[in-house]
Amino acid sequence: MITKPKGTYDLLGKDARIYNYLSNVIDNYMDNYNYDLIRTPIFEASELFHRSVGETTDIVTKETYDFKDRGDRDITLRPEGTAGVVRSVIENKLYGNRNDVLKYYYLGTMYRYERPQSGRNREFTQFGVEAFNSDDPMLDAEVISVGYNLLQELDIPDITVKLNTLGDLESRKNYTEALVKYLKPHINELCEDCQRRLETNPLRILDCKYDRSLEKGRAILDKAPRINDYLTKESADRFKQLQKNLTLLDVDFEIDPNIVRGLDYYDHNVWEYVTKEGVTLGGGGRYNNLVETLGGPHLPAVGFAMGLERIILELNKVIEERFIEKQLDVYIMSVSEEEKLTALKLAQEFRLNNLRTEINTANLGLKSQFKIADGLKAKFLIILNNEDLKKGLINVKDNVTKEETKVDEKDILDWLMINI
Ligand code: HAM
Repeated sequence: MITKPKGTYDLLGKDARIYNYLSNVIDNYMDNYNYDLIRTPIFEASELFHRSVGETTDIVTKETYDFKDRGDRDITLRPEGTAGVVRSVIENKLYGNRNDVLKYYYLGTMYRYERPQSGRNREFTQFGVEAFNSDDPMLDAEVISVGYNLLQELDIPDITVKLNTLGDLESRKNYTEALVKYLKPHINELCEDCQRRLETNPLRILDCKYDRSLEKGRAILDKAPRINDYLTKESADRFKQLQKNLTLLDVDFEIDPNIVRGLDYYDHNVWEYVTKEGVTLGGGGRYNNLVETLGGPHLPAVGFAMGLERIILELNKVIEERFIEKQLDVYIMSVSEEEKLTALKLAQEFRLNNLRTEINTANLGLKSQFKIADGLKAKFLIILNNEDLKKGLINVKDNVTKEETKVDEKDILDWLMINI
């Protein structure tokens, strides 16, 4: 038997229905915020991710799916959505009108070679939002609230936005120096990854799950210097302004100096959406320099992404009836050739009128059809028989009350519409 690759999954039954429901909710919801859908390729030139996500990040060093195509090009399956959107904004010169704030959202599969566990897959789906061409914390507040309010709309309880700032270049440089100076004497007490990070990406040490799980590591990290003490006045003011805006919007946030994010393109505000059990459903931040880094004009930007699989796991906990059982409106039973032809024709008419309909396409006997109809929780059964058909009549049975009625063939659709 050929099995699915490790870290992938088949979305079946209820979960597949939740996925569909989610993508519909997202489309309608984003329309109210005036964001446009953007679809970019699932694979891009490898260089795009090296230059945006960052050469030394875990994603680029350990997790990308890289390959050479038949034309000897270096290609990578996208590990995230931001880089592709930025590439598209630059390539299509979407910033033509310099005053427009560009607002996009996307929903698509991403690929990371990670160790699979609950809510962590190698193929997963992100819903993401990217907004360009404003440096105002008001836009950060709007973007943060898009994600926060969506989770509220979905009735996922107790979401907190964990908020931090990485400041501007100067704040970050001063802070990184102080952090490295503090951590150096403790280097041998940190995990191997963090020993390497001290050279390549010291801020990432702050959110090392492994070191934090050990008492020794936690004690070291808890006493580390805080970015807040190294912010330039401009960065500090901007962070305060954002908090003011979020309070106005009733976003439940909490400042967490350990949120540093795993991608290199961020500056200033960064945040994560976290459940009360500590599951991170999404994260994002401002990235004012990425468009320029990738060869575009100076175009400040801010965005976030959420993992749909993680949202589906949460929705499973607060699941609503409608996802659990799919109910059929009508099952049409047929045995003889004439009955089968009538069933085929009627089913099409019903389906085109939004009635969820099923017929016997497997040449089953009546008894099996009754069983299948019950299994599908059919509200009505149409039990076709040659004699009724000759008189232009259809026999309908209410599958709950078991009451049977003969209806004129030409009136059957109307009858069902009224009675369902
Ligand atoms: P990220 O934090 O790497 O950010 O991913 C965002 C979300 O994607 C995570 O919080 C999680 O829900 C989901 N996710 C990530 N990896 C996996 C995985 N292996 N399996 C399942 N779900 C996963 C970004 O990707 C940035 N591009 C977000 C962003 C947009 N920043 C600015 N704009």
